[in-house]
Amino acid sequence: MNTFGIEASAKLFSIIRDENDIKVILDQYKDDSLFILGGGSNVLLTKDFDGLVIKNEINGFQIIEENNHFAIVESGAGEVWHQFVMKCIDHNLGGVENLSLIPGNVGASPMQNIGAYGVEIKDVFEYLDAYHIKGKKMHRFNAQECKFGYRESVFKNELKGQYIICKVAFKLTKTHTLKTSYGAIENELKQMNIDHPSIKDVSDAVIKIRQSKLPDPKQIGNAGSFFKNPIVSKELLNEIQSNYTDIPNYPAPQNKVKLAAGWLIEKAGWKGRTYDNRYGVHKLQALVLVNYNDSKGDEILNLSTLIIEDVKAKFNVTLEREVNIL
Ligand code: FAD
Ligand code: EPU
Repeated sequence: MNTFGIEASAKLFSIIRDENDIKVILDQYKDDSLFILGGGSNVLLTKDFDGLVIKNEINGFQIIEENNHFAIVESGAGEVWHQFVMKCIDHNLGGVENLSLIPGNVGASPMQNIGAYGVEIKDVFEYLDAYHIKGKKMHRFNAQECKFGYRESVFKNELKGQYIICKVAFKLTKTHTLKTSYGAIENELKQMNIDHPSIKDVSDAVIKIRQSKLPDPKQIGNAGSFFKNPIVSKELLNEIQSNYTDIPNYPAPQNKVKLAAGWLIEKAGWKGRTYDNRYGVHKLQALVLVNYNDSKGDEILNLSTLIIEDVKAKFNVTLEREVNIL
């Protein structure tokens, strides 16, 4: 149940399929030790879990409101994200095509405001319904209340562990504004000989790029980018540029710049390093830590600490983990 493919057990486990299941389970379980699991594609399990794991399998896909330009679609938290994207495309609803093939479930998508190829879910987010575990009632959050940031939301920070996201609603387009300016998408569409792309074409291009860049968790255990791309001051960028003129950098809010963690990790010499043939840093994408075979979560966690220390020593940049450590 985790894409790293790491063995770990939970003391108790249950599956929820609707709000009533939550009430029944939480009426019986009085302990605080609770973990909500979606597709397990952004977690690193470092030990057995001495508590209750609730796997969210609340399904549903419904257009609840529409006009000539937009539709509001509600999705159950347990829907697989990529299948949700495919359903939207089948209904000719645009806005999530750049987020094709991101593993995991719809319910986890607001957790870290998933993003790829120039789009984040905050761009299409309408509201979500989440069950307050202590207060035992449902609460509706709008985008502002979710406090979305780069790979961040209120649910990863001050409200961590307090809510079970049950339903997410998105505002999608019927007349589309495609986001193809991300270099790799433009190139891929050119190679596909497409001049006037549809949302399906953009999705196909994104799928091709992702398949060529990222290891498939079915073959090699991983959780995507292990670290976030660091946001630093322009002064620090200038310092690094005095030794490395080619460092990739992108504008970020508050006059800062975003650096590519993959580039920093590669330049620090970690790309492709493998330990005991079991785990290491992926050979094509240095931002992805991998479990080749039977590794332990704490081995991968220790490797990530060594990388953080080395990147700090070499570039004075502090990397933050993106993956949720349990
Ligand atoms: P899980 O791993 O099950 O859970 C993640 C966190 O969310 C945990 O803290 C969990 O407790 C919490 N959670 C999950 N569901 C709920 C719920 N219903 N209510 C409350 N809390 C909940 N991410 C990106 O942003 N962009 C990418 O391009 C991207 N590419 C990836 C590529 C690969 C190959 C892999 C393996 C991962 C990638 N990821 C990417 C990370 C991952 O896909 C996302 O973070 C995804 O949203 C995780 O979904 P999940 O259902 O698997 O969550
Ligand atoms: N790079 C290297 N060496 C590497 C990897 C990357 O030099 O080993 C350089 C690339 O050449 C490029 C830059 O780093 O100049 C950025 O690389 P890429 O476009 O592959 O994107 P990324 O920063 O590695 C981010 C997200 C991905 C998302 C892609 C596409 C984060 C932490 N990661 O990856 O999200 O899919 O962009 O938008 O923001 C995830 O969050 O799990 C994830 C996979």
